[in-house]
Amino acid sequence: MKPTATPVDATLGATITGVDLANLDDAVWAFIEKAFLEHALLIFPDQNLSAKEQVAFSNRFGDIEILRGNSKSVKISNEKRKGATFKPDEFRFKALRGNEGWHLDSTYMPIAAKAGVLSAKVVPSEGGETEIADMRAAYDALSKAKKKRIQGLSAFHSLYASQAKIGHIVESGSGYGYHTKGAPLRPLVKTHPVTGRKALCIGRHIYRIPGMEDDEAVALVDELIEFACQPPRIYTHHWTPGDLIIWDNRCAMHRARPYDFSESRVMQATRIAGEAASELAPTFPDERAGAFEPATTNR
Ligand code: OGA
Ligand code: MN
Repeated sequence: MKPTATPVDATLGATITGVDLANLDDAVWAFIEKAFLEHALLIFPDQNLSAKEQVAFSNRFGDIEILRGNSKSVKISNEKRKGATFKPDEFRFKALRGNEGWHLDSTYMPIAAKAGVLSAKVVPSEGGETEIADMRAAYDALSKAKKKRIQGLSAFHSLYASQAKIGHIVESGSGYGYHTKGAPLRPLVKTHPVTGRKALCIGRHIYRIPGMEDDEAVALVDELIEFACQPPRIYTHHWTPGDLIIWDNRCAMHRARPYDFSESRVMQATRIAGEAASELAPTFPDERAGAFEPATTNR
């Protein structure tokens, strides 16, 4: 087997074949790491990793950001139990609906994620794709005037705020992301810590830009998202069970596409923790969160 990277028809993303992610040697790992930095999204068909194998692969990239309990991998699933799916008034339903908005992972935490890994276990008959958008190419494609307008601007990120945008009002302590560590303030233009390329740091978690009215700030960010997430900067992954993808969360946004929620969709997710040197942001009180306990870690 010879590892091969075949770019997909977008400014980011490559399909990697000729590798067995459950049995990686250092040479193949070096190939994958290089491809990850170049393409920002890697697609590995037909890997069928167990949770343990996916965690081991993810650990090649760094520590795992633990999202629930003590488990290093989580099920992103609409199954309440076998044969029953969450209903519109349930918390998990609203959390999954939130994932349908373009976002970066954990920008609402003090330390944003480095990368996201997702693999498919059960997929619906239609819809339920995952889309990834290239924030490097999006930044590059902005007009000179727009680049100038956003240069130096920073934005507050909050999961309380992004869920509120879809009508989901959440109390602090309700789950991962609903903390009292405050809302991180992150520059709209991010320089990648390894490649040095500039990328837009935007997405649905943004609710405020210092110096602007909230409406104006959200309108500006929505306009940037709309512009950024257009061909040729987006890739749509149509899942087959066993596929695995990894995206570089420092320069690529993603979202889930809708599907019929009466059908099951079960994904296995691992989130790779950001390195504090590049992903830690200062935090400020988030009025929806109650008490404020600024933190320098996510735990
Ligand atoms: C995630 C996520 C999208 C999907 O795992 O962070 O946003 O397609 N998933 O399930
Ligand atoms: Mn996500």
